[in-house]
Amino acid sequence: MSRLQAEHLYKVFGRRPEDAVRRLEAGAGREELRAEGTTAAVIDASIEVDEGQIFVVMGLSGSGKSTLLRTLNGLLEPTSGTVRFDGQDLTSLSDKELRKVRSEKISMVFQHFALFPHRSVLENAAYGLEVQGVPRAERIARATEALELTGLKGWEKSWPDELSGGMQQRVGLARALATNADLLLMDESFSALDPLIRRDMQDQLLELQKSLKKTIVFITHDLNEAMRLGDRIAVMRDGRIVQIGSAEDILVTPANDYVASFTQDVDRTRVLTAGAIMTEVGTVLGATTPEGDKLATAAEFRAAAPATVGADTPLVELFTPCSTSTVPVAVTDEQGSLIGAVTAERLLAVLGEAAEQSPAPAAPARDAADDGTPAEKTPADPASAHTSGNSSADHDPEDKVSAGA
Ligand SMILES: Nc1ncnc2c1ncn2[C@@H]1O[C@H](COP(=O)(O)OP(=O)(O)O)[C@@H](O)[C@H]1O
Ligand SMILES: [Mg+2]
Repeated sequence: MSRLQAEHLYKVFGRRPEDAVRRLEAGAGREELRAEGTTAAVIDASIEVDEGQIFVVMGLSGSGKSTLLRTLNGLLEPTSGTVRFDGQDLTSLSDKELRKVRSEKISMVFQHFALFPHRSVLENAAYGLEVQGVPRAERIARATEALELTGLKGWEKSWPDELSGGMQQRVGLARALATNADLLLMDESFSALDPLIRRDMQDQLLELQKSLKKTIVFITHDLNEAMRLGDRIAVMRDGRIVQIGSAEDILVTPANDYVASFTQDVDRTRVLTAGAIMTEVGTVLGATTPEGDKLATAAEFRAAAPATVGADTPLVELFTPCSTSTVPVAVTDEQGSLIGAVTAERLLAVLGEAAEQSPAPAAPARDAADDGTPAEKTPADPASAHTSGNSSADHDPEDKVSAGA
């Protein structure tokens, strides 16, 4: 069931924002408004996030991700549109009601986690509960538990500067988890970490999520991170969501050339799965293989198949079986029932299509952010988008104030 819904959200910075929304609705472009000193940071964004889902918002620096996230917890009031969490319209709440929802139901985790240097790890993890006014004994108990969940048992009494960057970020995550908030909003939470530690944190988040089943909106400018974490991914460009779908949807049926050029360097063999490319079992029956195997029935096919794999097996694991037999690979569902077949031809065709699809890298509009962040990197160069980060946009003092709330 969807717990978080945003409908037709707009956030415009600058003069007469409502006028700007009307003009955007009538077809005006972001550049036109920018020329007049008005920034349309989020334009007509609609999302739905289900319980237990990790919804990733991905886009280059300046595309509006952080602004969208801040409207989701009411830190920023949308210029137009609604945000509902558990059916409650956040845009209609008083400041006081909103603060209560924010401190009890929503947690944010930022890229630069504002740990208090003169508080112990435990006190830092308990900070969100302090803001909520939870009694000390309960605070300690819940923070201790959250630190254990994030792998920091034994570090409770340490000071933040005794911890590595990755561990400090775990304290941040523990702080968010300790509040028992159901909605986690994570803004580039892992972007400042070294690649290996970052992968570790991604694994840990996926692992925690299996049991905690939070509703998570995770922001990143890193496509690989988006593909690893996202149950659903929204791709933003210039304030607009240009596509929402699974990692496979985005790879296999990109909404436009922009999304396609963004994804061209992704290793499809690791993201696409057997289930996404399989054909119906019926299409492989009736044949006799060069080896003399008869494939008259599904059972005969299954017996002759070089491998039987689950639907979520990545393509990279199908090459070996496909190369050892002319019989297709059998695909089964979670109960072990036969649901499809992957032929070597299909496997190669899917990868071939992807290679053909990749357009010559078109130069997307370079859009100098007006907050001094560097101009957008072209999506044809995800590596540079990755390293450039958007740290100046994230040094927002607001982050520090709201970090525990
Ligand atoms: N408080 C603000 N006032 C004016 N412009 C802003 C403000 N916050 C963000 N912007 C602008 O809105 C656009 C989107 O910014 P942001 O949401 O931070 O993007 P992202 O998180 O994708 O890097 C940028 O052009 C940025 O400069
Ligand atoms: Mg940002």
